[in-house]
Amino acid sequence: MALPISKETLFSLISEHLALIAGIFVLAFFANNYFYKGLHKVPGPFLGALTNWYRIYYVIVGRRQDANQNRMHEKYGDVVRYGPNLVSFSNPNALKDIYGIGTPLTKSPYYLPFQAMSKGRAFAALFTLLENKPHSDLRRTVASCFSGTSIVSLEPLVNPVIERWIEQTKRIYVKENKICNVTWWMQLFAFDVVTNLMYSTTHGMVEKHEDVDGIVSWLDWMFDYISVVCQMPILDQFINKNPIQRFLELSGLRTPTFATVAFAKKRIAERISKDPSLIPTQDGMRSDILTQMMENGKKHPQILTEKMITSQSVSIAFAGSDNTAVTITAIIYFLLKNPRAYQKLMVELDDAAANGPKNSPISTLALKKHSVSTLPWAVFSNA
Ligand code: HEM
Repeated sequence: MALPISKETLFSLISEHLALIAGIFVLAFFANNYFYKGLHKVPGPFLGALTNWYRIYYVIVGRRQDANQNRMHEKYGDVVRYGPNLVSFSNPNALKDIYGIGTPLTKSPYYLPFQAMSKGRAFAALFTLLENKPHSDLRRTVASCFSGTSIVSLEPLVNPVIERWIEQTKRIYVKENKICNVTWWMQLFAFDVVTNLMYSTTHGMVEKHEDVDGIVSWLDWMFDYISVVCQMPILDQFINKNPIQRFLELSGLRTPTFATVAFAKKRIAERISKDPSLIPTQDGMRSDILTQMMENGKKHPQILTEKMITSQSVSIAFAGSDNTAVTITAIIYFLLKNPRAYQKLMVELDDAAANGPKNSPISTLALKKHSVSTLPWAVFSNA
């Protein structure tokens, strides 16, 4: 069928009104974002409803997404829209609906940049699995490693690191009267604790008083990177997981040799080789998270494969270290700022140490005698 106008007229019309046509497309794009799924009814900043670049801007400028998020809630209330497809809830009552068992909600692509690459393909661990079914299947296979009983039984793996840390703190900082960067020093401590829980051995950060293989600095960089790209996960496909990077890994031209991955692979290979001296024992019991995961892997070989165990081990080292370090650093900071709370806590701990079993450092098992409820300052009541 012939067009009512000639091709030439159509092209000249388009080129004459190119700016107008582009403007209409841009307007349609932003209008679609603004009215997306009726979310325009949810209060929030106007620019935030139009584009994810709004959040990226705030993260880059302020480096703290949560600070901006808190500000939004103060201004707009419990429910705030601050992305075309993003609504934030600050009321704890929403927790059950969002995270409760059986909820139809899945994790958003926000988590994708956290996924590690393996041979050119992104590979998920528990934290980064988006779909509910695979997540709950995997979770079932590893849940026993994180049960209360398991965690308390792993405590003997924490104690030697605490003892080493105290020795080193006294030697390096106290005796020399040297100022301590608690944030950095706690990062090394927490990383050694988590790797000891995981593999019964550490990278030796506390021992060497050094960020071994630059792992902690890399984590620092990674969290800065993640905080930006997670606002718009597609960006990760052009940066960390760009096609060139993927091709190089897939073709074997580049092998990622990140220290924590190599460390995990070595530990797993040692366990598989079954050299009994390499299997950690504790009163004749085999124990640490890796041992437990490998045991569980025998029961669930389809889910907890060797590759998944490696990925999970590396992700736990990261999932458990930075936040633990930050938490302890914050506790130290607030105790130093509140001498009254500090005094109360010390009296309580001294009393527990004097009247409980003579363990050093004081263990949860020892404190159980006192029951946590009798140590209100140790469980961080308001100062
Ligand atoms: C103060 C310390 C910690 C804090 C504040 C913390 C906080 C969290 C939060 C908020 C999540 C949920 C993340 C999400 O789905 O968006 C999470 C998940 C997780 N954490 Fe922790 N965590 C801490 C310590 C640890 C430690 C010590 C380990 C391991 C030894 C660990 C292992 C994990 C794992 C494996 C997940 C993924 C669970 C899942 O997706 O089902 N965390 N953590």
